[in-house]
This record gives sequence, C-alpha cells and structure tokens, in this order.
Amino acid sequence: MPRKILPSIRQIRYTRLLMNVLGIETTCDETAVSVVRDGQEILSNVISSQAEVHQQFGGVYPEMASRQHVDLLIPTVDEALRVAGLKREEIDLIAVAKGPGLIGPLLIGLNGAKALSLAWEIPFIGVNHVEAHLYAAMMSNQNYLFSSLGVVISGGHTFLTRILDVGSYEQIGTTVDDAIGEAFDKVASLLDLPYPGGPEVEKLAKGGDPSRFPFKAGRVKGQPWDFSFSGLKTNVLYAIKGQNGDKKGITKISEEEKRDVAASFQEVALGDVCNKAMRAAKEFDCGAIYVGGGVSQNRRLREMFDESEAPCPIYWPSRDLCLDNGAMIAGLGFHKFKSQGDPLDLEPLTRIPL
Ligand code: KG4
Ligand code: ZN
Repeated sequence: MPRKILPSIRQIRYTRLLMNVLGIETTCDETAVSVVRDGQEILSNVISSQAEVHQQFGGVYPEMASRQHVDLLIPTVDEALRVAGLKREEIDLIAVAKGPGLIGPLLIGLNGAKALSLAWEIPFIGVNHVEAHLYAAMMSNQNYLFSSLGVVISGGHTFLTRILDVGSYEQIGTTVDDAIGEAFDKVASLLDLPYPGGPEVEKLAKGGDPSRFPFKAGRVKGQPWDFSFSGLKTNVLYAIKGQNGDKKGITKISEEEKRDVAASFQEVALGDVCNKAMRAAKEFDCGAIYVGGGVSQNRRLREMFDESEAPCPIYWPSRDLCLDNGAMIAGLGFHKFKSQGDPLDLEPLTRIPL
C-alpha cells in the first residue's frame, strides 16, 4: 500500500522565533493540552484530570480513561487556545504523545492530533512521553549543560540516563520490577489511602518517624545502577498486615504506626533514587541533573537532593509540569520537528525505549 502523506501542508513559519505548538497528552488518565511558543514560553497549560473517576476503582481503569479522553479532548483543546489567546490559524504544529502509555488513551490522542492536523492543514509530530518528562526539567533553563544526568521517576518508569543532547540518551540503570510511582500507589492502597497514592503517602509521612521501620531498598545483583522496589513493598505489606498477612487481610497497625510506615517507606524509596543519582552524576561526570516524572513533585525528595552534595546543578520541572501535561509534549515537539511532520499512519506504542 502506498504510504499516506499529509495533503496540502501549509507553509510553516519555521523561524524558531515564533512557532506556536499545540501539545496533546493522553497517555494515561489526564487529558492535557497546552500551547507553547518556541519550545519554552507556555501560553496555556490545561489539564482535565480524571482522578475522581478512577478513584472509585482504586487505580486507572483503562476503558473508562479512553471514554473520558473522547469526551474531554476537544473541549480541552478549545480551552487551551482560549487561555493562550490564539486562534487555531495561529498554531503552526501539533505535538502529541505517541507512547508509552495505555493503548486506548493513546489512540484517542493520536487520532485527535491527526484529525486536527488534517482540518487545520498543519503538520503533527508524535513524541515520547517519558522523554518529555525529562524535557519538562529543561524547559525553564535552555542553557543546557550536556552531557548530563536524566532521572525519570514516574508511575510507569524509573531510570537513570546520560543525556548527550535533546534526543540522544544512553541508559545507565532502570527498575527491574515496579516503577517508583507504582510502588507509592501500591503502598498507599495497603495503607487504605485513595488513588493517586503518591501525594497521599507524602502527606501521611509528614507526621511519621522515618526510622521506625528498618525497610531496605532493593539491590540488583551485578547491576549497581538498577532499581528494585518489590522487596520494599513486601516489607511494607508485612509491617501493615503481619508476616502471614495477605494484601486484603486486616490492617494490624495503629494510625500512628501507619504514619511511621509511610515515612519509613518514603525515606528508603526516595533515598535510593537520590543516592544512585548522586553517584551516577559523579561517575559519569555530568554537567547537570534533570529530574522528571510525577514523583519529582515530592517535597521530601527535593529536600534530599538539596541536602546531598551534588557535583552539579539540579533542575526540576516547575510544579505544574511534574505530572502529565501538554506543555512538555509541545516543548519537546518543537525540538523534534525538522520541517516535516509525521505521516498519518503513525502508530501509538505502549512501550518505547528512550
Ligand atoms: O508522571 P506521572 O504523572 O505519570 C506517569 O507517567 O506515570 O506520574 C504519576 C505518578 C503516580 O504514581 C503518583 O502516585 C506519583 O507519580 N506521584 C507522587 C507524588 N505525586 C505524584 N509520588 C510521590 N510523591 C508525590 N508527591
Ligand atoms: Zn507521565
């Protein structure tokens, strides 16, 4: 079959000085759309969260997420344009998260982007959601210090990577089981806290004693840069339900002990990320550390990074760019776009290496 191409693409104002990119993010449970100028200036950043819908299921219900994206995508696009104060004719490029993520939600976002690209006669480009999380930390300061260390800590990913350039990475270490955000969510569920669990565990941990429970970070034999959180999660399960307890069993601890469990878990999980990041930054002689992903919102983590003797500056996403958002997609799309967009048969991918 012949490869389809975009019909009649309007000439783009590709001056790198005035390029308005509409970013669409629908990899999981946020329908997010943003307009970003020249990869940096955020004109709007609208996030239609579905958290309440999924709370009743204790986690993201993929089919429900897809339906929500269908309902929310176009109103969110309209709102992003309204807040940016731009007409659709003033948008030059559409960037969309093409993966990794849930297949249903990805299809809604990608097909939405393709439809808008056809209707508005402008190109679209698919970008990697996880790479965009790292870009979120670079957005506020575009004097990049490469090579640098990238630390991605989200609900689906946990890894350390060398950033040689925007778009050029060498993986250092990754998780062999759960992602750190996933571990926070599972511990939250064991502590009877609502979804999403990370911020709830952080809140509970504030009043707790982080040294009360001797939890340990997982070690991966022969892989000093890799992470493992499943053993830590089992430590927490035993602390809450007892050695023979199953996940649905009775919670055996008091409210005060719950706070201590949350604090002890958080200290070990975040401490592991912080220690490995600091060691990697030294070992690989990095010019900067860029941290991205939902867990980067955690204040205790930021404190730990600040307290450790980092060999180089550390960059964080601004608070509204930590969780899934369209601005990081639009920003990265600006850098990835090289005069031609992606073809209409671009497929979403549930897994993509960086
Ligand atoms: O990056 P993100 O929005 O989505 C993915 O790409 O996965 O990250 C969501 C994850 C969830 O697991 C959530 O519990 C976690 O980030 N998270 C946190 C905090 N805020 C969000 N984990 C720890 N502390 C927080 N304050
Ligand atoms: Zn994400």
